[in-house]
Amino acid sequence: MKRFYNLADLTAPEVEQLLDDAARIKKDPLTDDLRGRQVGLLFLAPSLRTRTSFEVGVRELGGGVSTLEGAMFYALETRSGARMDGDAAEHVREAVPVLSRYFSAVGLRVMAGGRTREEDLEDHRFLSFAEHATVPIFNMESALYHPCQALADMLTVREILGSHRNRRITLTWAPHPKPLPTAVPNSLLLAAAQMGMDVTVAHPEGYDLPGTVMARAEALASMAGGSVRRTSDRAAAAAGAEIVYAKSWGALSRYDAPDAEQASRERHRDWTIDEAFMARTDDARFMHCLPVRRNVVVSDAVIDGPRSVVVDQAENRLHAQKAMLRWLLG
Ligand code: CP
Repeated sequence: MKRFYNLADLTAPEVEQLLDDAARIKKDPLTDDLRGRQVGLLFLAPSLRTRTSFEVGVRELGGGVSTLEGAMFYALETRSGARMDGDAAEHVREAVPVLSRYFSAVGLRVMAGGRTREEDLEDHRFLSFAEHATVPIFNMESALYHPCQALADMLTVREILGSHRNRRITLTWAPHPKPLPTAVPNSLLLAAAQMGMDVTVAHPEGYDLPGTVMARAEALASMAGGSVRRTSDRAAAAAGAEIVYAKSWGALSRYDAPDAEQASRERHRDWTIDEAFMARTDDARFMHCLPVRRNVVVSDAVIDGPRSVVVDQAENRLHAQKAMLRWLLG
C-alpha cells in the first residue's frame, strides 16, 4: 500500500515522473482516474489552498471528496495506553480504521502538537494517525513535512528555469510574529536537494533546521550532483540566487522557552525580503508557500512586483496533487 508522507521517500526519477504528469494534467485537467473512488480530507489545522485545491482536484479526476475539520468531530487521542479521561473522546486506533472503511484514500493535515520538541521532531501526531490506516494516506502537512507544497514548488521552479540541476535557490528565514513549524522549509530543502539544485539555506544563528533533515538533504544533493550550504550572512545568501524562497520558522533550540524565542525573533526583524535584498540576487524570482504576512516576511514591492510567482505556486498545488493522487491510487 502506497503512502505519500515525505517527498524524499520517492526516488528522484519518481519525482520527475510526477512533475511530468503534473505538467500534462495542467494542459488537460479533466480525467476519470478516480471515478467511483471517494477521498477523505481530514484537517486538524486551518487551510485555504490545500483544502480547496484537493477538493477541486479530486472532482476534476472524477472522484468524490469529503472534507472533515477538527471542529466537526471528536477530539482524538494519539498516545498508546492513554487513560482517556480528558478532552479526547475517541482514539485514532478506532477513528482511522473506520475512515479507512469509507474512503479509498485519506489526506491528513495534522501539524505540530507543540507538546514537546521530541514528539514533533518524530512527527508523532501524523504517524500515529497513519499507522492505523488500511488505505493509502497522504500528507497535507505534518509537523515535519509538506510534500504537496514541495512537489508544486519543484514544478514552479522547472517552469521558471527550465531545469533544476545546479540551478541556484536560496531558502531564507524571514520574520514572523509567531514561531512556525519547519515543515515547509524542510520539504523545500529536501526536494531541491533531490532535484540536484544548489541550495543555500540562510537563517539567523539559532534557527537551524532539524539536523536529520540537513543531513538527508546533503546526502540527496551529493547523489544528484547538487549542493547544500548554510549561511547567516544575508549578502552571501542573496548573491547569485535565481530563486529566493522565503519562509519563517521557529527556533528549535528554544522550543520550550517561548519568551526567549520571541525575543530572538524580534532581534531579526531586518530579515524581511525587500527590494534591496532582491537587487543583490541574479534577477531572482520570489517564492513563498502562502499565507504570507506582508511587510513582515516580504515587502509589498517585492510580492506585488514582476519577480513574484506566489500565485503560480499556489495554482501548481492543484496540478501537482492530481499527479500525486494518480500515482497513489493508480
Ligand atoms: N501553503 C499552504 O499549505 O496553504 P494552506 O495552509 O492555505 O493550505
